[in-house]
Amino acid sequence: MDSAQDENSHPQQAVNPDYDLTTSIDPNGVGLRQKLTSYGDVHFSLFMRKLFIKAMGYSEDALSRPIVGMVNTYSSFNPCHANIPQLIDAVKRGVQLNGGLAIDFPTISLHESFAAPTSMYLRNLMSMDTEEMIRAQPVDSVVLIGGCDKTTPAQLMGGISANKPIIHLVTGPMMPGSHQGVRVGACTDCRSNWAKFRAGAIDIEDISALNEELAPTAGTCGVMGTASTMACLLVALGMMPIQGATAPAVSSARLRMAESTGAYAVQLAKSRLQPQAILSRESFLNAITVLQAIGGSTNAMVHLMAIINRHPALAGTITPATVDAIGRQTPLLLDLKPSGENYMTDFHNAGGMLALLHQLKPLLHLDALTVTGRTLGDELTHTPFCPLAPDSPANCIRPLDDPLYPSSALVVLQHGNLSPGGAAVLKASASKDRRLLRHRGKAVVFEGSADLAARIDDPGLEVDADSVLILRGIGPVGNPGMPEAGLIPIPRKLAAQGVLDMLRISDGRMSGTAGGTIVLHVSPEGADPGSVLGVVRDGDVVICDVETRVLNLEVAEGEIRERIEQRRREMVGNKEEPWMAREKTRGYHGLYMREVNQAEHGVDFGFLTADGPGTAIQGVEVVSA
Ligand code: FES
Repeated sequence: MDSAQDENSHPQQAVNPDYDLTTSIDPNGVGLRQKLTSYGDVHFSLFMRKLFIKAMGYSEDALSRPIVGMVNTYSSFNPCHANIPQLIDAVKRGVQLNGGLAIDFPTISLHESFAAPTSMYLRNLMSMDTEEMIRAQPVDSVVLIGGCDKTTPAQLMGGISANKPIIHLVTGPMMPGSHQGVRVGACTDCRSNWAKFRAGAIDIEDISALNEELAPTAGTCGVMGTASTMACLLVALGMMPIQGATAPAVSSARLRMAESTGAYAVQLAKSRLQPQAILSRESFLNAITVLQAIGGSTNAMVHLMAIINRHPALAGTITPATVDAIGRQTPLLLDLKPSGENYMTDFHNAGGMLALLHQLKPLLHLDALTVTGRTLGDELTHTPFCPLAPDSPANCIRPLDDPLYPSSALVVLQHGNLSPGGAAVLKASASKDRRLLRHRGKAVVFEGSADLAARIDDPGLEVDADSVLILRGIGPVGNPGMPEAGLIPIPRKLAAQGVLDMLRISDGRMSGTAGGTIVLHVSPEGADPGSVLGVVRDGDVVICDVETRVLNLEVAEGEIRERIEQRRREMVGNKEEPWMAREKTRGYHGLYMREVNQAEHGVDFGFLTADGPGTAIQGVEVVSA
């Protein structure tokens, strides 16, 4: 110690130019100087910010680096995100090896089984949280870490709206488990085994043992459910590096992916490449091609529409009809549950998205930009790739000329009077009885999930294998969050006779891990006083024809209008009706009910879309067949 200093003094600090009152501070600058808290004196704001962050031990050197934010969606209620602490460590390593400063911050965490009434009810809240925290904080780029179904869509929706440089890192799929020597995994096998248990084909010992094995590790569901689908779409959109989708959550490859994501994030912090600049019409067309080729989740339809409608230059230009049109030219190449037999680990071992995109090359827009700053074509050319032999038993990726299913894994039933909004979707590739893809039958109608639960197994229910099961009141407003209740169970008396599939129709969603001949997202939803779905009666004839994309109620147009007018009169003032009650509903629940739009627009809040307030769809007029 200098003899001139007493023992309580501090070492001499250099004069910090940040506090020089004669210089100006750019409010749109970089690092800590951006997004200053408003105290009416920008130098004081920066002085305050620095003194507080120094309480966490950061030096001036660290604080002078490009700042990479890491969105931390860890929660002890979220096993799909259980590896996030390790991923944050690895991202941080990648950032700091490349000269940046990595700082994590939390947003809400959503898991499918721990969010009542549904995680979808909270997706838009999560997107708002993500958007506003990115916007508010001094970050030069952001790594969006997440994986469970609603997380990646919410993060991308928020990220596009905030329009700061972002890059996705998913948590990765879980490993499959084993039951009596057979591989099992969440969640296709959860549903199929539960159906067997209901039908009496397996006993309570089996179902208890399965409960121990269906989710044996951390990570997202290990089949082509919504989480896996969205991970693949993030690659196709160019928002995640090409090898980012499939490495298992518990693998070292996942951690190396995290480290390299950190390196890319520093590059983004310097290049300032924003998501609205990366994402083009071609990026979305590529994503839709991949969605069809992987037999992706029907939920992805809703999420994609919400994501597109956050982009000011693209909102409204791509619709469910676009997904259908691309489907007609795109074969299903991936043999994964629920459309096929394999698990995400098999897809990863077969080369993952890199191998799939090589197969799909003739159908892709290779000049679409990606988050690395290079085009998709450049990425495919320069990423090392050792393809498996096409006839290898380990290869679950089929060649373009020998697909698993010729085209249209996902079909949009755009014609007919039952879903004039144009959102009704059916995963044809997951139908268990393809005769039902062209079917005419009598409706058996259920008014919401409680009615379904009360009557579906009633031995007196008038139903046979040709009936069309209709469940309404589970749409975006009717059952806030549009639950994944569209997988209407086969009535027990028919299941016991060996009936495995029936035509089922609802205004709700279905887990991407489920299969069957199931039409979802009917719009306008049944709760809407103007909807046709809301006036279907038991015994009405319903037609579904996948070839002509028709979903029709065979009731005269005049009769339909009369029923709708009668229903409107009965609904007025009825506070039991969600559509009527929403104006007086408080809190987030009320905000959701008043603002949510229909499936063809993404079930987003109108005021969050690029077009802004007033875009919620309310009381759509009936369109005749
Ligand atoms: Fe999280 Fe399936 S529950 S991905």
